[in-house]
Amino acid sequence: MKSMKSNPSARREARRGRRDAGWLAAALLLGLATAACRQDMHNQPKYIPLRDSDFFANGSSARPLPPDTVARGTLEDDAAFYTGKVNGVEITELPIPLTQQVLDRGEQRYDIYCSPCHDRTGSGEGMIVRRGYKQPPSYHIDRLRQAPIGHFFDVMTNGFGAMPDYRAQIQPRDRWAIAAYIRALQLSQHASASDVPAEDRAKLSQPPAAQRGEGAVRH
Ligand code: HEC
Repeated sequence: MKSMKSNPSARREARRGRRDAGWLAAALLLGLATAACRQDMHNQPKYIPLRDSDFFANGSSARPLPPDTVARGTLEDDAAFYTGKVNGVEITELPIPLTQQVLDRGEQRYDIYCSPCHDRTGSGEGMIVRRGYKQPPSYHIDRLRQAPIGHFFDVMTNGFGAMPDYRAQIQPRDRWAIAAYIRALQLSQHASASDVPAEDRAKLSQPPAAQRGEGAVRH
């Protein structure tokens, strides 16, 4: 019988066998390690909403909120801004700074949410009204021209008679933007020539460009 020592091919065979066993062990270890990892991620020490728990007597993992709890950032403690009233009295001044941006936003929101009934000028003859809905009063009657701006916010927030409220559709800031725009609409229907800046007043006596024939196609 030949000894291994004297047989080089048998030695090579043995070395290859040891190397293969090494790889196999490494692969097994890796497999075990990653399997353990997955298990850790699957069983996290936490409760997802509404999951039961045997820790609390009532079997629920969710604890009831203490009374009057308010989520962070949602405390509506500014009565003027959130209700349009202070001590039950409608406020007379816009509680946000009035800028061109606010008016533009108000115009856009008004045209979307209010003009279907109140029409684009606010006289109360929107398309829905022409199709039979109760006609709202014009914004240009004295009572509404003199109404405090908080009244418009309150009507949008709580509705008014046959008009539904728009609390859910329009955020408070946008409700103020609309109220500011309604003030601009009211002014637009009661403006006089002296409200026009002096440098633009000369243009008032001129007919619009289209009527002067400017811009028309000439042959
Ligand atoms: C679906 C139609 C409709 C839409 C849309 C609508 N309104 Fe009205 N609104 C009415 C009607 C109808 C009245 C009159 C309600 C009544 O007297 O019963 C009214 C009344 C009002 C009044 C007068 C309240 C008063 O003191 O007499 C204001 C101000 C007003 N609406 C603002 C708005 C604003 C702002 C919007 C948009 C956010 C809006 N409305 C959208 C139908 C509508």
